[in-house]
Amino acid sequence: MPDSNDKILQVASAVAASFVKNYKCSLHEATEFFYNNLVRDTSITKLIENAASEKQLSKNSTFKNFVKQHKKELYYKLRQYKGNDASKSGLMQALQLAQNDPSEASRQALLQSIAAFHVSSQERLAQNELFYRHLSQLMPDVHSIVDVGCGVQPLLFPQENFPAMEKYLALDKDKESIWLLDAVKNIFKDRYRWLFPKAWNIGEGWKDVCHEHGLADFDLALILKVVPVVKRTSPVLLEQLAAIPAKTIVISGVKESMVKKQDIERKERKAIDRFIKDSGRNAIAEFELDNEFFIIVR
Ligand SMILES: C[S@@+](CC[C@H](N)C(=O)[O-])C[C@H]1O[C@@H](n2cnc3c(N)ncnc32)[C@H](O)[C@@H]1O
Repeated sequence: MPDSNDKILQVASAVAASFVKNYKCSLHEATEFFYNNLVRDTSITKLIENAASEKQLSKNSTFKNFVKQHKKELYYKLRQYKGNDASKSGLMQALQLAQNDPSEASRQALLQSIAAFHVSSQERLAQNELFYRHLSQLMPDVHSIVDVGCGVQPLLFPQENFPAMEKYLALDKDKESIWLLDAVKNIFKDRYRWLFPKAWNIGEGWKDVCHEHGLADFDLALILKVVPVVKRTSPVLLEQLAAIPAKTIVISGVKESMVKKQDIERKERKAIDRFIKDSGRNAIAEFELDNEFFIIVR
């Protein structure tokens, strides 16, 4: 006869296995999540102990609600762009190391933990070189860039491939990402002279941003993986976003969902196409990476 703990682990494994069929999560992480939540809930552990079989347990409404609620909780946890406390503390250590030894080797190590901390950058990390090659072919002489909803991606920008670049304005409402950009810029001042991070919300508009930098408009705007997010979370801001003062815009969307094993390219394209149409601009070209498509707009 399995003891109570074995039974709980068995149930946690079964729930985890059904979760990972549809979501991008390791079986180990999911099992640990469900197990930790099961052992914390005495009414559920009693149900598990007294259940005659897994089949009987799976029909119990209290158990069914528990599973539904916790699958949702794990889904929302996975949907966070930024890493958990463990990856945060790894990142703080890497920052400290870079502060003590501001060499190119420690900057490269730091960039790995920074990218690992933000899912959007992590997803394209392996293809960064290709991404920036496309960008430099498109705009070899770019002087000014505004990156809206930038996350931590600006830290990975290879300025050496854009010799004319003077100003790269990195805007995001997420204060932690902006804090990180500032912290890295302060350690590697010469390397990031061109980078200007700012905590800013689309709702604040463009006037102050342009005024601060003495620019009427930017050569290039990057709106990477942002249009579908804003459409979902604050659709009223899309009009303001579309008024971005830039000669050329590169807008991206993803092909596969960040969390679900689901193809969402059609849905993302629909949102972006609508955005372009409403902005009164035209799509002039496209390129793509494994899990991201980019539309160039003028
Ligand atoms: C999916 S992430 C993309 C990050 C980055 N562009 C990349 O592709 O690596 C979306 C980003 O948009 C930012 N964001 C969402 N709504 C925003 C708003 N209203 N104003 C400014 N930034 C916003 C989020 O904080 C987040 O960093």
